[in-house]
Amino acid sequence: MIETPNDAHTVVTHRPRAVLIGPMASGKSSVGRSLAARWAVELRDSDALIVQHTGRSVADIFAREGEAAFRQLEHEVIMEQLSSFDGVLALGGGAVLDERTRAALQEHTVVYLTVDERNAGYRIKGDTSRPVLAGGGIDTWRRIFAERRGLYEECATVQVDTSKGTTGASATRIIESLVNAGLERATTTGGKRPQPSSVPV
Ligand code: S3P
Repeated sequence: MIETPNDAHTVVTHRPRAVLIGPMASGKSSVGRSLAARWAVELRDSDALIVQHTGRSVADIFAREGEAAFRQLEHEVIMEQLSSFDGVLALGGGAVLDERTRAALQEHTVVYLTVDERNAGYRIKGDTSRPVLAGGGIDTWRRIFAERRGLYEECATVQVDTSKGTTGASATRIIESLVNAGLERATTTGGKRPQPSSVPV
């Protein structure tokens, strides 16, 4: 357990093993699920937490209160998880728009997931759950990605493309990238940390 004084009021007791960022349809939830399973930890998703906390859908919050209100909720949920959760945390595609969130992410292991336009197009086809796409499909996705790309890069510790292969293969590439960056230990247990009984002495 890490007990690092954060500021006068908060003490950081946990931190996510990895925080996933990236554009809509880059696989944050699906690849996140594989990564969490590999590490035998929980996956949490900022959108799902907002829905859970408010009892309302993301689309409903956007429609009734507007994007700014959603972004504030998103920021608050993320800040809480960054200091209290030690699994895999997937963030909504627009979470990096908040500069306070971006500043907080500097202290974390942030995996930036990318997807090429063709695969993003397949994945968002017929999607009505994402208000920022507003029925605009891949053209809107492309414009939004172009606007945010620099923000993702600014926050990223490592970058992994999820366009090809299974979610499991993407999870493997994430673990390899983190091992190469010296942020995870290489193991022969499929990415799970060795149990104390199997740690060599
Ligand atoms: C958004 C992405 C969504 C969700 C909301 C806004 C965005 O999350 O937070 O619809 O602005 O990119 P996903 O990236 O998980 O689709």
